[in-house]
Amino acid sequence: MKAAVRNKKRRGSFCNPPLLLLIVAIQFLVIYSPTLDQYMVMLTTGKPGFFQSVVLDGGRGFKQVDEFIPEPHLRCDFTDARSNVCEMDGAIRILGRTSEVFVVAPSLTSVAGGGVNATGVDPNATRWKIQPYTRKGESRVMPGITEVTVRLVTAEEAPACDAWHDVPAIVYSNGGYCGNYYHDFNDNIIPLFITSRHLGGEVQLLVTQKQRWWFGKYKEIVEGLSKYEPVDLDAEERVHCYRRAIVGLRSHKDLSIDPRRAPNNYSMVDFKRFLMWRYALPREHAIRMDEEPGKKPRLLIISRRSRRRFVNLEEIVGMAEGLGFEVTATELHPHIPAASATVNSFDVLVAVHGSGLTNLVFLPMNAVVIQVVPLGRMEGLAMDEYGVPPRDMNMRYLQYNITAEESTLSELYPRAHPIFLDPLPIHKHSWSLVKDIYLGQQDVRLNVRRFRPVLQTALHLLR
Ligand SMILES: *[C@@H]1O[C@H](CO)[C@@H](O)[C@H](O)[C@H]1NC(C)=O
Ligand SMILES: *[C@@H]1O[C@H](CO)[C@@H](O)[C@H](O)[C@H]1NC(C)=O
Ligand SMILES: *[C@@H]1O[C@H](CO)[C@@H](O)[C@H](O)[C@H]1NC(C)=O
Ligand SMILES: *[C@@H]1O[C@H](CO)[C@@H](O)[C@H](O)[C@H]1NC(C)=O
Repeated sequence: MKAAVRNKKRRGSFCNPPLLLLIVAIQFLVIYSPTLDQYMVMLTTGKPGFFQSVVLDGGRGFKQVDEFIPEPHLRCDFTDARSNVCEMDGAIRILGRTSEVFVVAPSLTSVAGGGVNATGVDPNATRWKIQPYTRKGESRVMPGITEVTVRLVTAEEAPACDAWHDVPAIVYSNGGYCGNYYHDFNDNIIPLFITSRHLGGEVQLLVTQKQRWWFGKYKEIVEGLSKYEPVDLDAEERVHCYRRAIVGLRSHKDLSIDPRRAPNNYSMVDFKRFLMWRYALPREHAIRMDEEPGKKPRLLIISRRSRRRFVNLEEIVGMAEGLGFEVTATELHPHIPAASATVNSFDVLVAVHGSGLTNLVFLPMNAVVIQVVPLGRMEGLAMDEYGVPPRDMNMRYLQYNITAEESTLSELYPRAHPIFLDPLPIHKHSWSLVKDIYLGQQDVRLNVRRFRPVLQTALHLLR
């Protein structure tokens, strides 16, 4: 792991307090810990002050470390609908193995009693738990998310530091729906971008429920957000010490960002530029047909392997070619550098509702996204998940809601079946039933005559 470089500017601001505090040090402690092979001498005060440690540094003798214990500042937000987040400044120590984040206070009984400047937490609390994942309140997934305990402690109670870092830490979970392409971006990557991008890579990710393959798959993104090796928190025996930490990730809306709430007013356009940088994507803008006469707009139809396929794909391709598109129908490669390069070369994307639509983040600006929504009262959900993000990225969005005749469910059930007449009770009954019937048994036979005007609109938008 690359050692976090000491940040001179931040350090300086902690070195201001009067040295007198050292002189009025009221406690002197000697701790010998043979297991850690560390010999520590600590001087502490009841007020913000220096915390002096002499550490036996392996076989190389003693190393003296002065650590200033400032008054801690905490800002916690437990009211947001999507995630709980605590930001903290001060002497922060993180022990991964037990999922504990220690906030060291000069003296302590509680937040209120310990001179801790905290907003958003119970003033009588000395510890609280956070599940650092952005699907707050979802009973299907949150019980499986690691609980991180934030504890206010005095210097005497805090575990000794094994590694110091001058960059801030971000603690979050890589569990939950991890592995689903949509959720990887929605629950994880975009929240990470919102929470860390303004730090310019000078941040360390401490990841609970870390999945190695995930960090391999999204390597380009992770390395663009943090210059340091992410820590596998659950396996971490050492105590990592920071001056600043954020526990939890911020999330604003489905697959998007609210720039009014993001640091530096970052928006989805900034996110798109970030992706273009990380995957070396060449096209910032889609075709402008008026300026490039003779050139055909490129249309990508994402074909799915299992359910929600276009059963009359050839007919759709023929109709689109007839309108003047250069058409490719393909499944996308799971290797993201390859998939992103493919998607970026197109001007229009057509896909049935499903996580493949997440690839729209790689389209150039001004491109047109067309979502085909299968039967089952999913029009609103589909709009939320994939309708808003393209517009937030300066792209255009068209939604095509299929009719019962265009659904292969009409071949499985009689037309008078409640599946067609009223999907609402099925939604009310259970999501897994919706998933089973409408997402799991349905393919799409597009009525090309009905769909044609949608592609004509797309052509018009590319003028
Ligand atoms: C608490 O910290 C905030 C900044 O984080 C500051 O504006 C405020 O004045 C502080 N309050 C007290 C009582 O120190
Ligand atoms: C904190 O504790 C004090 C004394 O025990 C009590 O009076 C007060 O109501 C408590 N405050 C909260 C927010 O629980
Ligand atoms: C963000 O935008 C608001 C206006 O919406 C502006 O007042 C503020 O200065 C901007 N902040 C940054 C960091 O650009
Ligand atoms: C599809 O359904 C959504 C949500 O109900 C609606 O806003 C949209 O206008 C519909 N699209 C068409 C083309 O009817």
